[in-house]
Amino acid sequence: MDAKNQTAKSAKLAVENEQWELAVRPGTIGPSVIDISRLYGDTGMFTYDPGFTSTASCESKITYIDGDEGILLYRGYPIEQLAEHGDFLETCYLLLYGELPTAAQKADFDHRVTRHTMVHEQMLRFFQGFRRDAHPMAVLVGCVGALSAFYHDSIDISDPHQRLVASIRMIAKMPTLAAMAYKYSIGQPFIYPKNELDYAANFLRMCFAVPTEEYKVNPVVARAMDRIFILHADHEQNASTSTVRLAGSSGANPFACIAAGIACLWGPAHGGANEAALKMLSEIGTPDRIPEFVKRAKDKNDPFRLMGFGHRVYKNYDPRAKIMQKTCHEVLSELGIKDDPLLDVAMELERVALQDDYFVEKKLYPNIDFYSGITLKAMGFPTSMFTVLFALARTVGWIAQWKEMIEDPHQKIGRPRQLYTGATRRDYVAISRRK
Ligand code: CMC
Repeated sequence: MDAKNQTAKSAKLAVENEQWELAVRPGTIGPSVIDISRLYGDTGMFTYDPGFTSTASCESKITYIDGDEGILLYRGYPIEQLAEHGDFLETCYLLLYGELPTAAQKADFDHRVTRHTMVHEQMLRFFQGFRRDAHPMAVLVGCVGALSAFYHDSIDISDPHQRLVASIRMIAKMPTLAAMAYKYSIGQPFIYPKNELDYAANFLRMCFAVPTEEYKVNPVVARAMDRIFILHADHEQNASTSTVRLAGSSGANPFACIAAGIACLWGPAHGGANEAALKMLSEIGTPDRIPEFVKRAKDKNDPFRLMGFGHRVYKNYDPRAKIMQKTCHEVLSELGIKDDPLLDVAMELERVALQDDYFVEKKLYPNIDFYSGITLKAMGFPTSMFTVLFALARTVGWIAQWKEMIEDPHQKIGRPRQLYTGATRRDYVAISRRK
């Protein structure tokens, strides 16, 4: 069967002398799937796919990626068009409801999100239990998990209204919590949200304003922030989204599920890569040291990798990276940063790597994290906040995927199988007789 053949109806599996027919299900675009959901019952065998490189874990209508072509669609709309013409809350509406909002729907949605941005006043004291030098991701995991203790009235997942309220609350409160995590880490007072500002501008103000002075939001920076949120809003069944779905499949409340997603996102191979990419660029320091680092990245015996390069799905230029690169230049120019040594290193590293056989053959291109770190740093965020910003933006994707899963009549608790290679049955030996 041709993997991309949409018309194929079945696949055959032959093991020794036996043969089974497996149904093939086409998607609207992209590869079909071989339905193995009855495989164990029919054959007594499992499939083996560590890292789920060839396994579709669910059916979804939200996001589509063609990694070979470098295409990313939210509900069918190309990311480039949404980033150019839309705003983040419109993207949130699209991801949650499946269609772009009318003007009235947009106004209503913006209003609802804006009216939920404050967090329970007691959360302020909850923060004080953390050490000031805690990583803001550690604080965010804790605080988002704790939301379920503060908002009991929206954790009944069988009630569609409560699911909606929880979704709005999460999208609305995440910037407030993220900004609080930042303010707490630098010992400044928390800044309350301001309803007259849009989502991104409000977030920037909560991060960078102080009570003693007026804070004027720079519209170019706010637009860039909004675009960064759009670019990160969803990315189909990545590690953190799959974590949210798996946690949610047991019936756990949405706040707990999102906290699980944040924990997964923290890893350097996932959301932590923008922090790691910026650290790497600083470590390289000057363009003349690039060959040394490229050599290390290619060395099988050296665990070093070029952070911000490569992707499980994209085997072409990450479409988000192109927009991110443009946004990076816009922000640096607006803020009058003419010569950023990190940007010089990044651009030269990209040029060198894209001409190097190792990276070309393995189809390793810059991903979104390659330029996002430089942009966020220019905006004034410390590296420890980068993954927090990713979590803030990805919350809507997690929520939309969680909601889709809960509303799927075929949904079951996630329970992968294993290939057991440990000891076979043996009898207990008393400690006195053990050698
Ligand atoms: N630098 C050097 N070599 C690399 C890199 C890299 N950044 N990424 C992959 N490779 C090599 C890898 O060594 C392997 O070589 P070989 O086939 O000889 O063993 C080959 O390319 C395939 O790599 P893989 O690890 O099997 O691929 P994967 O799909 O499991 O990993 C990845 C994808 C993103 C974890 C990996 O490319 C990586 O570690 N990149 C750096 C971290 C990074 O930038 N992550 C952000 C991802 S984008 C944000 C997000 O969506 O979360």
